Amino acid sequence: MATLTAPTAAEHHDTFPINGTDYIEFYVGNAKQASLYYRAAFGFQLVGYRGPETGVRDRASYLLQQDKIRIVLTTPLGPTGPIAEHIGRHGDGVRDLAFWVDDARDAFAKAIERGAESVHGPEVMADPDGEVVIAAIKTYGDTIHSIIERRNYRGLFLPGFVAVTPAFAPPGVGLKYVDHCVGNVELGKMNFWVDFYARVLGFFNLLTFDDKDINTEYSALMSKVMSNGNGRIKFPINEPAVGKKKSQIEEYLDYYGGPGVQHIAMTTDNIIETVKALRARGVEFNQTPTTYYESLQARVGKIDEPLDTLQELGILVDRDDEGYLLQIFTKLVQDRPTLFFEIIQRKGAKGFGKGNFQALFESIEREQALRGNL
Ligand code: FE2
Repeated sequence: MATLTAPTAAEHHDTFPINGTDYIEFYVGNAKQASLYYRAAFGFQLVGYRGPETGVRDRASYLLQQDKIRIVLTTPLGPTGPIAEHIGRHGDGVRDLAFWVDDARDAFAKAIERGAESVHGPEVMADPDGEVVIAAIKTYGDTIHSIIERRNYRGLFLPGFVAVTPAFAPPGVGLKYVDHCVGNVELGKMNFWVDFYARVLGFFNLLTFDDKDINTEYSALMSKVMSNGNGRIKFPINEPAVGKKKSQIEEYLDYYGGPGVQHIAMTTDNIIETVKALRARGVEFNQTPTTYYESLQARVGKIDEPLDTLQELGILVDRDDEGYLLQIFTKLVQDRPTLFFEIIQRKGAKGFGKGNFQALFESIEREQALRGNL
């Protein structure tokens, strides 16, 4: 059963206030080419760059932006070192889910006091536009949370990044901000990481899905959603559940070489226009079985969007007590069966599409079977 655990002010206290996601950094094999993919296909703008030309010798980073979503694509310039090792082990993937805070020193100290493992303590980066304070703590696998304080910084992003305005700048597709980031962890480790976010960061358990909510003939998953107090940071944590065949979460763990970020959900105010634009620009989405739409009206009731358009685009709908949401999942965005994206439009609903988990799960398994991994 999915249970909504309504938080009360007395029940949860953030260890430190988080204003939102500051950026998401990917370590990739070829950041120059990846940046073109996210610009041409997903409508991000290339706004900043840091690399040898700006005085950084060992890596190149591209800063992409769409409304409030900031993505950093980083690649190493040599064969050794932590970035190259990360890519060797995991392939292209998410390294850093960075938090935007008002006081990084205080936030880091409190997190460490409550048992967080340090990646590095507070470091000051400065340039003529001011200074940024950055610390970082570890989470599942090789993933980290940087803690970014930028209240004394007027510059573009971080010291060292220079503004760029490329002539090739395809328009955005209406993506607005990061809704949630999902982590896959090993069998038996979900509650460990749920406890980590509760104990170390003061997050609360917003929702729980067990293997009766999400299962097919072959496999199942369990998931708990952890949220900070203002709801701007939401981290569902998945673990595989025992099934007859290999769970999609196990497949992820095998190919990613351990736990990591499975998908990032980004919001839009008009999912129909956003998905049309993404499809026209080459983004591929998971197929939704036609049978899904036969029962949709009965399941979700009256909605504003024409059902035939939703079906044509493969958009899923789910309703909860407070409203409904529309969502769709991209196919994998690299050759390893690891990371994908979700596009979501919330019309009141605060859930994660529980009624759609099953449909999603089945469509992911069809793809998994095609890879010979089921
Ligand atoms: Fe999601």
